[in-house]
Amino acid sequence: MVALSPIIKKAYWTLAGVGAVYIIFLSALSNTWIQRHALYAHKLFSGWWVNYARPEAFGFASKQVTPFNVSTPDGEILSAWHVLSLDTYGQNEQEILESKSSPIDEDEEFSSIASNLRFLSDDPRARLVIDLHGNAGHVAQGWRTASYLSLTALPKTHVLALDYRGYGHSTGSPTEAGLITDGIALVNYAIDTLHVPASRIILLGQSLGTAVVSAVALSFADPDNSTGLIPTGVEKGVMNLEGTDFASVILIAPFTSMPDLMGSYRIAGIIPILSSLRPYPRIQSFFRRMIVDTWETESRLKALVSLVSHKHKGIAYHASFDGEEDYEAMVQLDIAHNKSSRPKLNLKLIHARNDYNISPRNSGQLLRITANATSFEGLSNFQFESRKEVIKKGDGTLERFVADGVRIEFELLPYGGHNRIVSFADVAICVNKGFQGL
Ligand SMILES: *[C@@H]1O[C@H](CO)[C@@H](O)[C@H](O)[C@H]1NC(C)=O
Ligand SMILES: *[C@@H]1O[C@H](CO)[C@@H](O)[C@H](O)[C@H]1NC(C)=O
Ligand SMILES: *[C@@H]1O[C@H](CO)[C@@H](O)[C@H](O)[C@H]1NC(C)=O
Ligand SMILES: *[C@@H]1O[C@H](CO)[C@@H](O)[C@H](O)[C@H]1NC(C)=O
Repeated sequence: MVALSPIIKKAYWTLAGVGAVYIIFLSALSNTWIQRHALYAHKLFSGWWVNYARPEAFGFASKQVTPFNVSTPDGEILSAWHVLSLDTYGQNEQEILESKSSPIDEDEEFSSIASNLRFLSDDPRARLVIDLHGNAGHVAQGWRTASYLSLTALPKTHVLALDYRGYGHSTGSPTEAGLITDGIALVNYAIDTLHVPASRIILLGQSLGTAVVSAVALSFADPDNSTGLIPTGVEKGVMNLEGTDFASVILIAPFTSMPDLMGSYRIAGIIPILSSLRPYPRIQSFFRRMIVDTWETESRLKALVSLVSHKHKGIAYHASFDGEEDYEAMVQLDIAHNKSSRPKLNLKLIHARNDYNISPRNSGQLLRITANATSFEGLSNFQFESRKEVIKKGDGTLERFVADGVRIEFELLPYGGHNRIVSFADVAICVNKGFQGL
């Protein structure tokens, strides 16, 4: 007994110490500046020691990657990568290699942009993946480059990847409205400057990028902010006669909202943020309310699906229309959703079972919520379960829900974790399918 007591005392003080550090940690997060640095981690692995002006170091072919800048309406300069499709590269190898430019020589850089982005903008068969990454790091961080390599090996498929404000070589610092503005700026650049129609573009995001992609997709579907879910300060996406229905919207390892995520998130799968406060719901909700950028993906996807499917119902109604009332409104719907044969929204959620940062339950929840949004009255549990198709794929599963103009799929992979999944063949297959019908 006597010998034990110092050990117990020590254990007690150690526990008290850990508790105190945790409280200090949470209090520090109540500071907006610290909170944003923790959430966006844009200064973490920001990679000043890697020269990603030399993409060959990451396994790309010589001049396959063109670094270029996109400017935002609010004055930031974002650095981005264009990764050439490998078959386009093969067909034009001589010309590409002989182009005199070197990506790190500033004066000549422009000619390199002009020549290589031309292969994307001049080719009517080109397919484009706009790839928005997760938090921390930069375009060339971790498995991201492996994913561009696997995607550009698909037929005629190019990748545009972006460093949001405050990341990599981009100016500014991240906020929710800022990142959404950046995503829209890149999509606008593709549609407006490079003339790639939305129907040949897939929006793909991973982790934090899924929250950005969801908001960007909603901004294009809801340019007038009728849903009230576009944050203050976000500029409109361009309107385009070809329509703003993207070929697909693919979300890898998405989460329902930032406050929900913080309730279950563990840093590196170990250190809890708010989950250890679960026995104290009032304290937990106090800290939840302090989260400044709430990234309400669940509400945004729900609004997106309900907008698209209700507009689609408008068209079905128009086909048997014989009055004159609401004719103008119907024509407007018709213009917005002219190509009615394809689903207007192809939404795909991909999650690994062994994702220890963001649980795949998030994707399950998003499937249920978005499927429910296809119905005015809402679906009962039974209706949802019975209309859902479940397909076994090896050790994984694919759940599919199809309704008016909308196809939603949730693919659960047995492996892939939180980050490596982006480089998996299943993602490339999904992108390839996402372009089908072109
Ligand atoms: C991109 O912008 C940075 C400044 O943020 C500048 O140093 C660089 O030269 C620009 N690159 C191109 C291709 O314009
Ligand atoms: C969208 O609507 C919400 C709610 O009315 C508003 O707070 C927000 O500022 C609006 N966003 C834009 C870009 O106008
Ligand atoms: C729909 O598209 C067809 C051709 O694809 C065009 O002729 C028709 O005018 C379009 N309808 C509307 C309302 O724009
Ligand atoms: C759909 O939404 C309604 C109304 O919010 C809710 O009562 C119902 O349980 C939801 N259905 C599913 C399958 O989640």
